[in-house]
Amino acid sequence: MPTATGSSTEKSSSSNRILVIGASGYFGKHLLRACISMGHPTFAYVRPVKHNSEDPSKLNFLNEFRSLGVTFFQGELDDTEKLVSVVGEVDVVISALAVPQHLDQLKIITAIKQATNNIKRFVPSEFGNEADRVSGLPPFQAILENKKKIRRVIEAAGIPYTYVSSNSFAAYFVDYLLHPRHLNTTDTPNDVTIYGNGEAKAVLNYEEDVAVYTVKAATDERAANRVLICWPQGNIVSQLDLVSSWEKKTGQILNRIHIPEQQLIQLSLMLPFPENVPPAILHNIFIKGDQMSFRLTEDDLEASKLYPDYKYTSVNDLLDICLVNPPKPKLASF
Ligand SMILES: NC(=O)c1ccc[n+]([C@@H]2O[C@H](COP(=O)([O-])OP(=O)(O)OC[C@H]3O[C@@H](n4cnc5c(N)ncnc54)[C@H](OP(=O)(O)O)[C@@H]3O)[C@@H](O)[C@H]2O)c1
Repeated sequence: MPTATGSSTEKSSSSNRILVIGASGYFGKHLLRACISMGHPTFAYVRPVKHNSEDPSKLNFLNEFRSLGVTFFQGELDDTEKLVSVVGEVDVVISALAVPQHLDQLKIITAIKQATNNIKRFVPSEFGNEADRVSGLPPFQAILENKKKIRRVIEAAGIPYTYVSSNSFAAYFVDYLLHPRHLNTTDTPNDVTIYGNGEAKAVLNYEEDVAVYTVKAATDERAANRVLICWPQGNIVSQLDLVSSWEKKTGQILNRIHIPEQQLIQLSLMLPFPENVPPAILHNIFIKGDQMSFRLTEDDLEASKLYPDYKYTSVNDLLDICLVNPPKPKLASF
């Protein structure tokens, strides 16, 4: 459970009723925990679950989070009447819908516009690279274009927003790059894949921290109509930095297998959708280095500076966690 301490300059209120949409997902659960730990009345809008559901994990999810105090509403995003009435019950809406559902957020925007209350803040599902300031190979660019479309519709509707540019989820990418779950197993070779020369700087932020920063910003007047960029100093690393740190901690020597840029480009062009998406994302983050390719403007907010009292989990801390109990992130859906 994240510790949700706050800076004395924070202009937030603990009485915000927060609705999370996409709450049963990988990141949505982190958001629910963050809302609860900060004392916000927490609501979730989830697709209907049958009691004889063939997906017991969803029933377990509902039971677990109900017991933590979350109020659930079940409905489809297409059920406008229901969605409008639920949105009318809350102050803040945070979406954590999966990538294929990003444009479905138009339905949430419609509901926010129709609801009789004034939603104080909407945080759309982004949680990645800064959509307005990076560009990628076509399969990744398509995702960025959807995020930008949602941003423009929110702005045109005059809905107060915060956009969260979380960069990479650390547990997810450390698992993908270093395979810490296989530590000490004999059946796994000590191979690690390095994209390009491995020197581009990326930003790996622990999922729990991204959720806490998101909820803090969603209830913070200073973050209204701003982009929150997560660039904590301790999380800016290259792939080579990451591999060296892991070798020092584990005493393992890893075999670095370099994938040239051209190979990733080819894969992104030749593989069918959705397999063409990961090579395009890896190219953007680890070869192009886009997460650190721009300067912050006066209007930008950097998460660790905005909330200096919050002790985030650095990449170094996360590697220590991985030595004892590696997190088991699920693969993202595209
Ligand atoms: N930066 C990174 O490294 C990184 C990594 C992973 C994800 N992300 C981002 O985090 C956000 C959430 O991703 P995630 O991996 O947590 O998503 P996810 O677990 O795949 O799904 C999130 C939720 O989307 C809803 N959903 C899925 N399929 C749906 C459908 N057909 N119709 C309606 N709703 C559907 C579900 O909500 P209900 O069943 O509750 O209705 C599901 O729990 C995305 O914006 C993604 O880009 C970032």
